[in-house]
Amino acid sequence: MSSSLIGHDLYASPEVKKHIEALVAEVSNNNSRIQGIKGPDSEMSAKLDEVAEEINATRGRPLFFKYVGSGIGKGSYVELIDGSVKLDLINGIGINIMGHSHPEVMKASLRGAMSDVVMQGNLEPNHEYLDLAKKLVELASRGSRLRHCWVTTSGSMANENALKISRQKNTPARKIMALESAFAGRTTMMAEITDNPNNRVGLPTYDEVLRVPYCNKFSDMCQSSCGKDRAVTKMKELIDQNKGDISAFVFEPMLGEGGYRVACREYFTPLLELCKENGIAIWADEIQTFARTGNFFAYDTLGFGEYVDIVTVAKTVQNAATLYTEEYNPKPGLIAGTFAGSSSSMAAGVKILDILDKDGYMGPDGKIQKIHDEFIGMLNRLNETTCKGLLTDAGGLGLMVAVTPLDGSKDKMLALLHKMFENGVMAFGCGKGPFRLRFLLPAVMTSEDIEAAGKAIEKSVLELA
Ligand SMILES: Cc1ncc(COP(=O)(O)O)c(C=O)c1O
Repeated sequence: MSSSLIGHDLYASPEVKKHIEALVAEVSNNNSRIQGIKGPDSEMSAKLDEVAEEINATRGRPLFFKYVGSGIGKGSYVELIDGSVKLDLINGIGINIMGHSHPEVMKASLRGAMSDVVMQGNLEPNHEYLDLAKKLVELASRGSRLRHCWVTTSGSMANENALKISRQKNTPARKIMALESAFAGRTTMMAEITDNPNNRVGLPTYDEVLRVPYCNKFSDMCQSSCGKDRAVTKMKELIDQNKGDISAFVFEPMLGEGGYRVACREYFTPLLELCKENGIAIWADEIQTFARTGNFFAYDTLGFGEYVDIVTVAKTVQNAATLYTEEYNPKPGLIAGTFAGSSSSMAAGVKILDILDKDGYMGPDGKIQKIHDEFIGMLNRLNETTCKGLLTDAGGLGLMVAVTPLDGSKDKMLALLHKMFENGVMAFGCGKGPFRLRFLLPAVMTSEDIEAAGKAIEKSVLELA
């Protein structure tokens, strides 16, 4: 191996490649013991109880599921430290879109780990930082005016940067228009944009957020009855009452925590036109939707890319980023922060985007849409047969799917989630009435995985019905 190689070139070194290939082959070989959903090994159950209890005690709050991963996984499946194997249909709330132990993602992550630093900062970036930012700008430029990207570590931080960028450009405007049932993250301001008082118990309210109604459909695309006229009337009213004091309209192209309700272009465009006319920044929060709806950006799926000024992404990217147009490029000093991300996570993020871009995942005939159709088909079949009327309104976009289980109450939905966990499938909830079962499906999900999910969901629903 030549000693003159710089870090980046090392990746191309046959010697380095050989070692990385050997490591990943060994891990994959070990993971091949994972063959599907499996119960715990009796002698290991006590170990899971003990470690989970220690986590609960240390953080002062119990885990939602008794889940401690063993570090072993394969595709849609993950092993826990009690030897049980679960079908992971929530992937850490959408981080692991390529499932568990994807060989190419592992290789990229190992290459990143060879960097001289574990974490990269905005002051001293390495090439992984550029690779990730460039890839995001390239993807975004295809269907929008977005031209710049600022990398950071969490969705909430990307949203905070978006908020500052919109306020600086539209200074002195202070207020934000956000959707009913929105979720925006966990910082003080994002908790205020989030339309859920349970997320800010005991916090002061700053009265900077104005609410726009969302469309009222669940499964199919909206029609004239969807409530778009109500939304336009309300937005006009808000703009009139707060002349010159609204800096941005922030919205999820499809509500995430709010219940996976799909709105259409006809709902969004009149609102976006109003914002344009009034100099209000159009900020799409794609933190959950990014790379999941059958296009990289849900604004492409819904067809309003020409409008967006600022877009935030995270989760799938393994980091987070704020993308913005030339016009919204902030002045020096406004956005910074020590951490940009780990060298490994940035290298893995680029690899994931490359795979999704080049291996047939996107578009109406792509793998994502196929998984969507098959999974929804499975839920609808159950709803029409063995679980008659107990799994209603299956819908969503791409790898984001939700269904209303049982009577749509919070108690029943939570009971079902825990029953499904027992029976080997991990999902989560969303919505606030009806309370829905939410799946963030891995892009590597196979027809066999969907069949296995169907069996476990059916068993769980029938055990509770
Ligand atoms: C739409 C949306 N915005 C913001 C966030 C916050 O991202 P993070 O948890 O990475 O801070 C999330 C997280 O679930 C989200 O779904």
